[in-house]
Amino acid sequence: MSRRDSMLREMGIAPLWRDRASPPPQAGPDIRACEQAPVEPPAAAPVRADSAPLRPVAPVVTTVAAPPATVSVEGLGWDELEERIRACQACRLSERRTQAVPGVGDREADWLFVGEGPGAEEDARGEPFVGQAGKLLDAMLASLGLARGQNVYIANAVKCRPPGNRTPEADEIATCHPYLDRQIELIRPRIIVALGRPAAQTLLGGEIKIAAARGHLFERKGVPVVVTYHPAYLLRNPQDKAKAWEDLCFARASVV
Ligand code: URA
Repeated sequence: MSRRDSMLREMGIAPLWRDRASPPPQAGPDIRACEQAPVEPPAAAPVRADSAPLRPVAPVVTTVAAPPATVSVEGLGWDELEERIRACQACRLSERRTQAVPGVGDREADWLFVGEGPGAEEDARGEPFVGQAGKLLDAMLASLGLARGQNVYIANAVKCRPPGNRTPEADEIATCHPYLDRQIELIRPRIIVALGRPAAQTLLGGEIKIAAARGHLFERKGVPVVVTYHPAYLLRNPQDKAKAWEDLCFARASVV
C-alpha cells in the first residue's frame, strides 16, 4: 500500500473515492483523487462559490475585531513576534500555561491551517497539533501531498492552552488575535484552512456553523479561507472524515 493510500486509510475515507479502474496513484499530490471525491454542497450557507473554476467570492467579513490595546505587533518580524508571543501576559491563559505555542512550519507557506488552541501535549512541547488530533492533521496534510513544515504553516487562534482544554473565551481570542493577524501578514498564504468553529469565527468574525459554512469560499483580507471540521472532532465523529476530505479538495481547488 502506498504512503498516500495508508494516509487516506488513516483518515478513514479511502474507499469513498478509490477508482479501481484507474491506474495506480503516482507519487506526490493527486489532484484527480480530489476531483473524484463526491461533493455535496450544503443547502444553505452564507456565501456560495458554485461556479468553476472556484474563485474567492465577496468577503463575508471586511473587518475583524479591533485588537485590544495591550497587544501590539505592528511591524514585527518573525523572531520578534515569536518572542512577544512567548512573553505574552495579556490574558488569563498565560497564568496556567507551561509555555506559549506560537506556531510551526514554513514561514513562506502557501497553506495556513488554523486550529483552536494548544492542548496538554502542545503546551508541554511548544508545538501545535502534536497529540492525537495532530496525527490526524498530519494524515490530512499527507493526503494532499503536503507535510508539516513543507509549504504549510500551522497556528492556533490562541497561543496558550485553555485550562482543561476548554474552548477559548471570546475575550481570550480577541486579545490573542493580533498575533494570528501578524502571522498571516508575514506568511501571506494562498489559502487558509480554518479547523473548527472557534478558528473559523476568529478568522471570519461573526457566528459560523461548520456544517453550513463548509463547501463555501470566504475571504479574509484578500486571502481565501475554507472551513472544515477540527481533527479532534473528526476523531470523535469519524463518519465526517469524508466531508473533511471534500473540504481539503475544495481548498486545493480554491488556491489562487
Ligand atoms: N487542537 C488545536 O486546536 N490546536 C492544537 O494545537 C492542538 C489541538
